Amino acid sequence: MSLEKIVDIAKRRGIIFPSSEIYGGLAGFFDFGPVGLRIKKKVEESWREFFIKSVDNIYEVQTSLVMPEAVWEASGHTKDFIDPLVSCKKCNSVYRADDLIQEITGKSVEALKPEELFKMLKKENVVCPKCKYFAWSDIKIFHLMLKTQVGPTEGNIAYLRPETAQGIFVNFKNILNSTRAKLPFGIAQIGTSYRNEISPRHFIMRLREFNQMEIEMFFDPNEKDFDFEKFAKTKLKIVKRDGKVVEITAEEAVKKEIIPTKWQAYFMAKEAEWYQKIGIPKEKIHFRHMKLEETPHYSMGNFDLEIEFDFGWKEVVGNAYRTDFDLGTHAKHAKTDMSFVADDGKKFIPHVVEPSFGIDRTIYAILLHSFRDGKDRGWEFFSFPKEIAPFAAAVYPLVSKDKLPEKAKVVFEMLKKEFAVFYDESGSIGKRYARADEIGTPFAITIDYDTLKDDSVTVRSRDTKKQVRVKIKKLAEFLKEN
Ligand code: GAP
Repeated sequence: MSLEKIVDIAKRRGIIFPSSEIYGGLAGFFDFGPVGLRIKKKVEESWREFFIKSVDNIYEVQTSLVMPEAVWEASGHTKDFIDPLVSCKKCNSVYRADDLIQEITGKSVEALKPEELFKMLKKENVVCPKCKYFAWSDIKIFHLMLKTQVGPTEGNIAYLRPETAQGIFVNFKNILNSTRAKLPFGIAQIGTSYRNEISPRHFIMRLREFNQMEIEMFFDPNEKDFDFEKFAKTKLKIVKRDGKVVEITAEEAVKKEIIPTKWQAYFMAKEAEWYQKIGIPKEKIHFRHMKLEETPHYSMGNFDLEIEFDFGWKEVVGNAYRTDFDLGTHAKHAKTDMSFVADDGKKFIPHVVEPSFGIDRTIYAILLHSFRDGKDRGWEFFSFPKEIAPFAAAVYPLVSKDKLPEKAKVVFEMLKKEFAVFYDESGSIGKRYARADEIGTPFAITIDYDTLKDDSVTVRSRDTKKQVRVKIKKLAEFLKEN
């Protein structure tokens, strides 16, 4: 499916709209419509169930979007959270220099300095994609955080957070003291982050305002006991630093030192399983071991979960082994003790692994991989897994007369208590099936003349178009089981 088509369908079906569209929009900002918001909430709830509620040692928090400058000085963001910017002196277009060179030449330019990038522009004769001239400015450093001023007095600088993670780290002591958690334990957060990206693009792929789901899992690096639960044998496809691809179980990847810690392998295995559960085919998922030059100095290894999109493979989850860097740097800058005291009195700063999920990219992947051309029925539809479908079922009276709407409303009211259902009596039944399919509703329930006699209804499956009769009193059970 082309990008234009995704954007068009997302808008027409109430999934995602360009933000402030009637005023021409604002690049890098999008709004969720009534259907899209349901999908977003379902994705978050599915993630919460799978990663947080299924274990009893991960605590979820919600921290401020705006945080003082001191936080970002300590984390290194004010200094290092930068991208190289180049502008065309002929037509004034601006680009992220590394992306521009990479896209045009196909060559990797990770971690190159501005002067080196400029040399490469010359060497590869990269011209401006818009005006086709070679008239580049010097490459400048562009800071990605959105700055704001808090309160009426000048000088009180703060930033919109570029990741939810720092809200977790600065609260480490508060959470530890209030929960009295023992290692290993995790802190999770779902929320919005902001990055003033030079060139937002590809619909909701690179945004200036986006949503993350992050877990910081703290552990004692000397603790050897580890329970992989049922994920030890989960197969991971890993693109190694040398470009070779291995398919290996999570357990084996640790044994062979491809992944540096069991915690990271555990989360990667869970991620691979979760993305399949929400509709991404197994062959469209792999992990890429980030090259040394791309990896932050404090990290003992970063693995990106990448999904294949219409334009190629792209990171959707970042997995970083951040060691004790974040707690250590906040301890130093805030002059606060960030250590953990074990039962045997040992005092140390825990290590942390971080799986960081992008919600918007996840939704893009779902839309792309659940889309069906519907040649068998004459309309396109989304085959969302029930886990993330915006509605569980649609309820229809066959016709709008003869007491069928009244009966259908009784069924609707009954199901509404337990499921996200909608009622629709306008247009032909075929048109109503099309509308339900188009927003990925797994089942359509029709109340017809037989219903009045035997209290059963017709349930049509979105994917197979097959219809079965189900007793009204068994409908809830049917929707749960299918
Ligand atoms: N705390 C670590 C962190 O933020 P990241 O790799 O920079 O790591 C994690 O971001 C995830 O957030 C990415 O894998 C991606 O899914 C999402 N993300 C990052 N920047 C984004 C942007 N500009 N637009 C949309 N999603 C973004």
